[in-house]
Amino acid sequence: MGGVSHSSLSPLPSSDRVDVAARLRDALLGASFTADGLLDLLGAPAYAALARSETVPALRATRGDTPLEALVRLFLLQQPVPQARVADVLPVEDCLDSGWLTGVGGDEVAATVDIRPYGGSDGEDWFIVSDLGCAVGGAGGIGSREEGVVLGVGGASTTLAGITVRTPVAAALDLGTGSGIQALHAAQHATRVTATDLNPRALHITALTLALSGAPAADLREGSLFEPIADDETYDLIVSNPPFVISPGARLTYRDGGMGGDDLCRTLVQQAGDRLNEGGYAQFLANWQHVEGEDWQDRLRSWVPRGCDAWIVQREVQDVTQYAELWLRDAGDHRDDPAEYQARYDAWLDEFEARKVKAVGFGWITLRRATAAEPSITVEEWPHPVEQPLGETVRAHFDRVDYLRAHDDAALLAGHFKLVEEVVQEQVGLPGAEDPEHVVLRQHRGMCRATKVDTVGAGFAGVCDGTLSAGRILDAIAQLVGEDPVLLRDRTPAQIRLLVEQGFLEPAV
Ligand SMILES: C[S@@+](CC[C@H](N)C(=O)[O-])C[C@H]1O[C@@H](n2cnc3c(N)ncnc32)[C@H](O)[C@@H]1O
Repeated sequence: MGGVSHSSLSPLPSSDRVDVAARLRDALLGASFTADGLLDLLGAPAYAALARSETVPALRATRGDTPLEALVRLFLLQQPVPQARVADVLPVEDCLDSGWLTGVGGDEVAATVDIRPYGGSDGEDWFIVSDLGCAVGGAGGIGSREEGVVLGVGGASTTLAGITVRTPVAAALDLGTGSGIQALHAAQHATRVTATDLNPRALHITALTLALSGAPAADLREGSLFEPIADDETYDLIVSNPPFVISPGARLTYRDGGMGGDDLCRTLVQQAGDRLNEGGYAQFLANWQHVEGEDWQDRLRSWVPRGCDAWIVQREVQDVTQYAELWLRDAGDHRDDPAEYQARYDAWLDEFEARKVKAVGFGWITLRRATAAEPSITVEEWPHPVEQPLGETVRAHFDRVDYLRAHDDAALLAGHFKLVEEVVQEQVGLPGAEDPEHVVLRQHRGMCRATKVDTVGAGFAGVCDGTLSAGRILDAIAQLVGEDPVLLRDRTPAQIRLLVEQGFLEPAV
C-alpha cells in the first residue's frame, strides 16, 4: 500500500499555530457557532438537510447579516464572505496568516476547510475539520473525488464513537483517524492518544480538529495499519473505523482498503490482539464477505486473535448488487457517463464472482484481551434498532462473560439475580385466547433485545429482585406449577445463562 498523493487539494491551515486555533475557537463559540446555535438559526429541516449534504435550505436560512450567518456561509457552505463582515466576528488577519481563510479577490475571504460544530457526549462544543464540501457522506456528495480527500463525520463515525467503551485509560490508539473524531472522543478519557493514518493530510486535519476543539494534541503517526506502532507498544483501547469497503480497486483512501476482499478488516482484527494490554478493548467497524459454502460466523470466528474474547454483531447484510450500488453512488459514479458506470458496476460483480461472494455483512467487532484459557467468542446477528451510546453495554457484556465463565450450573443456582431495569414482558397470542402462545421479555435500553421465554422463565425473571437465590426461586415455582423441583433445577440453568448473557438478568452483588 503506497502513500497518498493529494496534489490538487487545497493547502491546509497551519497546525503549528495552536494560538490561532484557540482564538478562532473562542470567536466561533462567542458567535454561537455550535450544534445548538446552528439548530436555532437554521431550524430542524435545514439542519437535517445539511447532514444529507443538501445546502439549499441552509443557504436560504442565512441570507441575513448576523455574525453566525456569516460563519455558516464561510465554513459550512463554502461561500465567500466580505472580509469586513468576517472581521466583526473572527481574528481575520490571524486566520488569513495561518491559512484558515484565504483571500478570493475583491474584498472577500473564503474558508480553506470545512469546520462543523459537533456536540460531544457530555455536551462539549467541539469542531470537526474536513476537506471543503466533504463534511458528510461520500465523495459523491458536494465534495471532491480526489484520492486523499478527508471526510468529516458520517454515520459510521458516530456509530463507532457510540459503541466505544469509555472507561478512563492510559493509552488509546485511533487507527485511520481521518478527521480525528475518534481521537477527539478518546482524548476525553485517555491520558495519551495516538492517531495514525495512511494519509498525511488526515493527520494534519486531525491536529486541526483537536486544536480547534480545545483537546490535547495527539501523537500523530503516518503509515498503514499497525506499521507506525513499535512491536512493544500496547494500548488499553484501540478503535478503528477502517476503509472497510470491499471493492475491485483502491480508488478512495477514506473507504477502500486496497487489500483484496475483506483482508484489510481481517488483518486489522488479527493484528490488534498483540497490541492490547490485559483487559484492553479493540473496537472496529467492519465489512465481511459471505462466501458460498462457508458459514459467515465461522469466517469471523477465525479472525479473532488468540488470547482475546470477542463480541461480533452483524448489523446488516446486503446482496452484492445492493452493495456495489451503494458504493458506486457514494463515489458519485451514477452521475458519470452511463457506459463508465456500467463498466464499474460490472467490474464490482466480476470481483465478487471471482471470490464466490454472495453478500456482504456490516457490523461491529469488539475484542477484549483476556486471561481465560478458553476465550469466549460471540458472533450474532442483531439488525434491530439499538439505543446508542452502547459503550457501557459493551463493557457490561464482557463482565457477564466473565461471570458466566466462572459459574457452572450449581454456582448459577446458588447465585442471586436482578431483573435489569426497564425490561418488560409481552404476551403474544391470538386475541381473546386465555393463555398466551408465548411470552417475550423485551429491553428498552442498550441492545433493545427481545427473547422468547417459557412460563417458568417469565415467572423466574419476574421474581428476580436479588433477594432469593435462583435455586430457591425455582423450588417455589416447581411447587406452584406442580413440577419436580429436581428436574426444574436441572433444566433451567441453560435458560438463566441465556438471560444473563443477553443482559435481561444481572448478578446481584
Ligand atoms: C472511513 S475513514 C474513518 C475516519 C475516522 N476515523 C472516522 O471515524 O470518521 C478511514 C480512514 O482510514 C485511513 N486509511 C486508509 N487506509 C489505511 C491503512 N491501510 N492504514 C491506516 N489508515 C488507513 C483513511 O485515510 C481514512 O482516514
